Amino acid sequence: MNSILEVEGVAAGYGELPVLEGITLEVGRKEIISVVGANGAGKTTLLLTISGHLRARHGKVRLNGNDVTALPAHEAAAMGLVMVPEGGRLFPFMTVMENLQLGAYHSAARTRMDQTMEEVLTLFPILADRREQLAGRLSGGERQMCAVARALMALPKLLMLDEPSLGLAPIIVDKVFEMLGKLVESKGLSVLLVEQNVGNALRLAKRGYVIEQGHILKSGRGQDLLNDPDVQRSYLGL
Ligand SMILES: Nc1ncnc2c1ncn2[C@@H]1O[C@H](COP(=O)(O)OP(=O)(O)OP(=O)(O)O)[C@@H](O)[C@H]1O
Ligand SMILES: [Mg+2]
Repeated sequence: MNSILEVEGVAAGYGELPVLEGITLEVGRKEIISVVGANGAGKTTLLLTISGHLRARHGKVRLNGNDVTALPAHEAAAMGLVMVPEGGRLFPFMTVMENLQLGAYHSAARTRMDQTMEEVLTLFPILADRREQLAGRLSGGERQMCAVARALMALPKLLMLDEPSLGLAPIIVDKVFEMLGKLVESKGLSVLLVEQNVGNALRLAKRGYVIEQGHILKSGRGQDLLNDPDVQRSYLGL
């Protein structure tokens, strides 16, 4: 069993509205996987379903071979499935330090909190400098770093990120993506990210999936997808 995450034939939606249909994908250990697609394709819905915020109507989600399909989000998070929501969703009127502490909410993470905090502040020196600052005063890039750092406080095995590049200047996007690459190398994490920023996301990822209207349209090596004429035409403006 090599994969950290296996998603098999998953369907999900909101009320009467079906959004995802027959989604099958996997994330290997220490792999970075990107799911790319346009507005409304179902990227956020996919992450909400995997993380247990939204109930799958069909199919299976397995983490480390364990069936987590029906687990509520807090239980899935305690097993290592941790999501960084779009925009980071920090608490703006709390300090950087307080936001990070909130990441360590399940009991195993709380027990190790001081140690993890030290590791995280070493990984992100900018957050150590800003630890007493209100999160609402961080720059866009710092906010994204803080959101990733808060997720690390929950001791993830698989980190899932919803559009980490959204609203950031291109040079900051490069920095955030570089940081993710380093994180995988240094911490042995696996990463699943969803993005509209197709070029950056597929360059970073070992493998990628293209999602359109709730279906996986294509999958392959990041580089192969970047060279794919359909992907170039639809998503890269070439
Ligand atoms: N809470 C909700 N209730 C009802 N429909 C929703 C809800 N959230 C999303 N949808 C619908 O589900 C579909 C997929 O939305 P989703 O947010 O997953 O797309 P996305 O790929 O993340 O888009 P974006 O790139 O704009 O973030 C859309 O048609 C959207 O209108
Ligand atoms: Mg979204």
